[in-house]
Amino acid sequence: MSARIIDGKQVAAELRASVAARTAGLGYTPGLVVVLVGDDPASSVYVRNKDRAANAAGIAARTIRLPAATTEAAVLAVIAGLNADAAVDGILVQLPLPPQIRARAVIEAIDPAKDVDGFHPINVGRLHDGVASLVPCTPLGVMKLLAASGTPLRGVRALVLGRSAIVGKPMAALLTAADATVTIAHSRTADLAAECRRAEVLVAAVGRPEMVRGDWIAPGAVVIDVGINRRADGALVGDVAGAEAARVAAAITPVPGGVGPMTIACLLENTVTAAAARRAAA
Ligand code: GUN
Repeated sequence: MSARIIDGKQVAAELRASVAARTAGLGYTPGLVVVLVGDDPASSVYVRNKDRAANAAGIAARTIRLPAATTEAAVLAVIAGLNADAAVDGILVQLPLPPQIRARAVIEAIDPAKDVDGFHPINVGRLHDGVASLVPCTPLGVMKLLAASGTPLRGVRALVLGRSAIVGKPMAALLTAADATVTIAHSRTADLAAECRRAEVLVAAVGRPEMVRGDWIAPGAVVIDVGINRRADGALVGDVAGAEAARVAAAITPVPGGVGPMTIACLLENTVTAAAARRAAA
């Protein structure tokens, strides 16, 4: 058997097209501002891609680049200005931040109505209360891939591997809201392989290259690989050993071309969601 490939590039292209159609009908241009502090090369690439995709979808996106030595107070002042700017619907501060800046302080300073990352405690709380408005982009993208692949979730045993605030925890909340029976596993979980083997839906988000082996996967499972890791030989690989897993799973996301493209497409959707909600309330 060989697993069906869940084509994230295709699903993301459809979502971007539907966001572009929505922005064209709004009667105003939604605004997105990405804040990048420092010159981390990976972050620079991500930020450029976000900016480009947003503008292509009819969103007025710009990036504020600040030097690596910027103080926390200066970042907070930038955020306050963006909160007060009626043309700005979405604010995203690229993580990680330099060590002199507390990410927590910055995230909590963002107006929750403009928090297109869904990281503000108000939005985290709403998600866990089941009244989500702005949901973190990567787990939201995973839910859309599961829907696009026709994967049922009600009553299904789902395992989330990883407990980060950006992916693992919100992922578990979304799967729970979709009526899955959810387990969160992590680096301290006893017998990780056995936990994985019980899962009908497995979402891997640990950032360890090819940690999940083929014999960790239940025959017929649906596997979503959030990991993007650079292997010692330079190859880009997921958290799952893809070739092994594809011999066992019913369906699997590729790396690259699976979850990655969905994250940016969901950011665009969140920006339009934030714009519509704010401007209706104004
Ligand atoms: N760095 C890595 N992933 C993310 C993300 O989803 N949002 C932000 N703001 N920074 C990130």
